[in-house]
Amino acid sequence: MTELAAYWPPFGLTLTTPRLVLRPIRDDEIPAAVRAALSGIHEPGRSPFSNPWSEAPAHELGTNMAQWYWRCRAGMTSEEWTLLLGIWHDGQFIGCQDVEAKNFPTLKTVTTGSWLRQDVHGRGFGKEMRAAVALYAFDWLGAEVAESEAAAWNRQSLGVSRSLGYELNGVTRASWGGNAQDVQKVRLTPVTFKRPDWDLKVKDHEATAKYLGI
Ligand SMILES: CC(C)(COP(=O)(O)OP(=O)(O)OC[C@H]1O[C@@H](n2cnc3c(N)ncnc32)[C@H](O)[C@@H]1OP(=O)(O)O)[C@@H](O)C(=O)NCCC(=O)NCCS
Repeated sequence: MTELAAYWPPFGLTLTTPRLVLRPIRDDEIPAAVRAALSGIHEPGRSPFSNPWSEAPAHELGTNMAQWYWRCRAGMTSEEWTLLLGIWHDGQFIGCQDVEAKNFPTLKTVTTGSWLRQDVHGRGFGKEMRAAVALYAFDWLGAEVAESEAAAWNRQSLGVSRSLGYELNGVTRASWGGNAQDVQKVRLTPVTFKRPDWDLKVKDHEATAKYLGI
């Protein structure tokens, strides 16, 4: 455990899958996250995000990302929290998997969001990292529901959801970056979850759970 993790326990948390390491992004890793985002996440002009953050000019993107990471960490309470997990494969930073909860003590529900560098799409990493956080949420944090959503055209994200057993949970219309977007909501429970055939390794869960009031 790093010395800082003694004060902010999520910095000690590490989830390990067969090919990936997931852990909260530290400040000295923000540049790697920015480089990964700048290398391209999606087709230009076709943002898959409700807030088109990845399309900001290069000189603003890093500032926005750093401020977003700091804001999420600074705002965490046992009621509302966001774990911004970086994804490493063979020691390379390849993307992010977020897990967020609002009123967790009552709702026992997490929502997730994710992105990967475009050059590693389609290799099963998206499914592996979402499976990792579903396992962590259900088996370690005691979540009862995991929700997600994607633009109705986002076959990659909805492919990950379908493949893990998420059920369709309605379509809503929202303003994404000022444009009307049909958004497909999806929902996973421990009953519908198609568990992977590997075990999740978790390091330093207890301190993080205590910090989150779990
Ligand atoms: C969404 C994302 C994280 C998925 O990761 P990925 O590594 O590309 O996806 P995977 O290779 O793990 O695919 C998982 C499943 O989706 C399916 N899938 C992937 N791309 C697909 C496509 N274009 N059409 C249909 N199914 C697709 C795969 O077949 C696989 O299902 P299977 O295991 O049953 O065969 C990644 O593509 C990404 O970063 N996209 C841009 C950002 C984004 O859209 N984020 C989500 C915002 S809601």
